[in-house]
Amino acid sequence: MDMIEVSGLVKSYGPIEAVKDIQFRVKKGEVVGFLGPNGAGKSTTMKIITGSMAPTGGSVRVAGYDVFEDPVEVKKRIGYLPENPPVYGEMTVESYLRFVAKLKGVSSDRVSKQVEKSIEKTDLGSVRKRLIQNLSKGFRQRVGIAQALVSDPEVLILDEPTSGLDPRQVAEVRALIQELKGEHTIILSTHILPEVQSMCERIIIINRGRIVAEDSIQGLSNRMAGSTQVKIKVSRSGAALEAALKSLKGVHGVVASDGGYTLQVSAGGQVGSAGQAGGATQDSSARFENSDLAVELIAETVVQTKSGLLELKRDAVDLEEIFLKLTTGEESQSPGGVR
Ligand SMILES: Nc1ncnc2c1ncn2[C@@H]1O[C@H](COP(=O)(O)OP(=O)(O)OP(=O)(O)O)[C@@H](O)[C@H]1O
Ligand SMILES: [Mg+2]
Repeated sequence: MDMIEVSGLVKSYGPIEAVKDIQFRVKKGEVVGFLGPNGAGKSTTMKIITGSMAPTGGSVRVAGYDVFEDPVEVKKRIGYLPENPPVYGEMTVESYLRFVAKLKGVSSDRVSKQVEKSIEKTDLGSVRKRLIQNLSKGFRQRVGIAQALVSDPEVLILDEPTSGLDPRQVAEVRALIQELKGEHTIILSTHILPEVQSMCERIIIINRGRIVAEDSIQGLSNRMAGSTQVKIKVSRSGAALEAALKSLKGVHGVVASDGGYTLQVSAGGQVGSAGQAGGATQDSSARFENSDLAVELIAETVVQTKSGLLELKRDAVDLEEIFLKLTTGEESQSPGGVR
């Protein structure tokens, strides 16, 4: 059974459609990363999953319970680090964690043990007696993570868990999430790509309220494996060359600059087919073009058009570029929308 099932999720804030038909599933023990630029709808989706906010439409089930019909059952199973954790500044770290544990229904004989465990896991021992309001931002963020863990929930929803942390703390939180893997089902959000690469098994890329790609890290990399950028410099104006290149099989973009003497060609790979929500992975192999072959054809074309080749340089496209391609510019909904 899937631990989290989100279907047809829609959320409008007045005229703003923050989430438009989001749908995905998360298996027990899986770590899934929500990746997307500012305003994509990540936090909104997370708030709805945790039952902190009602959607405009659609449904969410956690461990088989509907978030809106059985909110108590769902909240019991979820630890949530919100984007802006509520401040209980007047409490000490330890008393706050005890308070949250009780609130989450941890039985009184287990409260102390659970509080100790979450303090230990988030390395808060040195500040346990201090008032939360006097802690630095990074330590407060750790308190936020500790309160999400304190009831030992099956599901963790962590909205930007590393935001505000220094590099050493970022590394620690990443290690902590690695450690929590398997015991817990985790959804975390970030707009930092290396973060999902290091922590998650699967990425869901959200842009403008929609899922624009959903795949394993490996799958996304594989999808791009055949893709290259080829930069060409010629000594004779390349207008004819540009047209010839555009018509080549495997070429999905030609950008001419420098009066047509420099051309940037995208070839191979499947970036253009990645823009479909949900089943983005199914049809992708059909569209795969071998980039070696594409580069060969490009080189032949340059020679045949007698454009006076001066330079031909090839670069691989990395995950960073996929992300940028999927999340910038036009609504990348139509197949080939990134051409
Ligand atoms: N309470 C609100 N009232 C009105 N609009 C809102 C509200 N909360 C969010 N929005 C809008 O909904 C959209 C999605 O916001 P959301 O916070 O879900 O994005 P996000 O992906 O978490 O972004 P970030 O990376 O900046 O945290 C944005 O356009 C935002 O301005
Ligand atoms: Mg957010």
